[in-house]
Amino acid sequence: MRNTIIITFLLSLLMVGCTCRQPHYRVGVSQCLDDAWRQKMNEEMARELLLHPEMELCTRIAYGSNALQCAQIDSFVREHVDLLIVSPNEAEAVRPAVTRAYRAGIPVIVADRRVVGNEWTSFIGGDNRRVGELMAQWILGIQATSSKPLHVLEVTGLPGSTPATLRHEGMMATIAKSQKSKVESSKEPQPVIESVMGNWYKEDAYKVVVDYLRTHKDIEVIVAQNDLMAIGAAEAVRDSKGYGNGSVRIMGVDGIMLGVQAIVDGVIECSATYPSCGDLIITTAAHILAKEPFVHDTILETMMVDITAARPMLQQFITRQHELETMELVSAQYELRWQKVNTDRNRLIVVVVLISLLFLSALGILLWIQMRLKIEIRKEIWPQLTEVEQTLETIQLSQRDVAFAERMKHIVDDHLTDPNLNVEFLGSALQLSRTQIFRRVKAVTGKGPLDYIRERRLQRADELLRTTDMTIQQVALELCFSSPGYFTKCYKEFFGKLPSER
Ligand code: FRU
Repeated sequence: MRNTIIITFLLSLLMVGCTCRQPHYRVGVSQCLDDAWRQKMNEEMARELLLHPEMELCTRIAYGSNALQCAQIDSFVREHVDLLIVSPNEAEAVRPAVTRAYRAGIPVIVADRRVVGNEWTSFIGGDNRRVGELMAQWILGIQATSSKPLHVLEVTGLPGSTPATLRHEGMMATIAKSQKSKVESSKEPQPVIESVMGNWYKEDAYKVVVDYLRTHKDIEVIVAQNDLMAIGAAEAVRDSKGYGNGSVRIMGVDGIMLGVQAIVDGVIECSATYPSCGDLIITTAAHILAKEPFVHDTILETMMVDITAARPMLQQFITRQHELETMELVSAQYELRWQKVNTDRNRLIVVVVLISLLFLSALGILLWIQMRLKIEIRKEIWPQLTEVEQTLETIQLSQRDVAFAERMKHIVDDHLTDPNLNVEFLGSALQLSRTQIFRRVKAVTGKGPLDYIRERRLQRADELLRTTDMTIQQVALELCFSSPGYFTKCYKEFFGKLPSER
């Protein structure tokens, strides 16, 4: 029974133990913004995470504030996250917090935008110079079809963020290179580029472009450093007096669904893809946490999306979104099932524990009743039991005494005529000490050993007197009395009459 209880408990413990399917690693994600491109990145990370149940993500968004992002990174450090993924708002401003995390021993993956310095573990991001090159090639392509210099407006991202700088540098370097080679050969017109800051936001881009168009009526091309700003610029052109629909050609960057849709709808003309690579970030994190080899610097490819590529791409986005929704549904159902299984198992554990407790209580009560009963029974029958035991003891004792008396009688009777029959003789014949002889003879006969011997002699004498012709004198002598007178005295005392009177 004890074994059953132990097994039940062990099983319960095992079941409780099995519920602990907890992730081992807590990963902090510090996002500078919460726009469509970053939502895509977050979704990719969440999807990849399904394959890494050992990790758990905790995402904090800085909404474009360097101070907030630094505070959020510091809080991750205080919470001792196992790894930090950071997409810095501005390279220099966020560097101190990233350095603090790195120096605290937390592996840091810098994603998309870089930080100043090299105190981080791995970088994963797009090729921003190449993005700039694609912008420039598009501008140069349009310029090639025109006899006058092309007026281009560049809408840049946040100036302190590395993609804004690198995209601009990449674009200007490519244009400069083409200008250099063309200036030498012919007098072809060159594009004139001016820049305004859109800070990565559609609303900011809208405002700066509206302002710009108030004073510049000859803009033909706008290159915005992301799709959101490109759409903002398109809306600014639409809403500005003197700029008809389609008269300004606009390029964006990112190639997210929103941008591709804008290309299909004719709002913007093209976009350069800028991969968000959330899946790669998670697999790299998994490698780092598992202390496996990983790539220190990953630069991802980019490509141009025009109307020809945009249609199938949009289709792909739609299909992917359906797939994602299905996956989310499946995952939600799985989660629900898992929760149900958990609840059922927890209920089962409670039931098992309750049954075990009931079982133990019942066992306890039974043992208690058994004990009480024993006590009661003992109390009630104990006196009787003692009596019986005592009687039994007495019986056993008297049985021994009877045997002793028998043996003693035999010895005494066999030596009645022997003058040596005395206490010592009896003691050695019965193998008892003098004291023992006195005690035992007294116990079984109620008299001392000498008295007993004399009585047995007197009884034999009486028998002889009755059954033989022997005289009193002869009998007294035969049975070792010192004199006939003494025999007569003893006889009278014992039988109450003289031997002659028999
Ligand atoms: C999103 C975004 C993208 C851009 C990237 C640069 O927050 O502005 O549109 O390509 O960041 O870091």
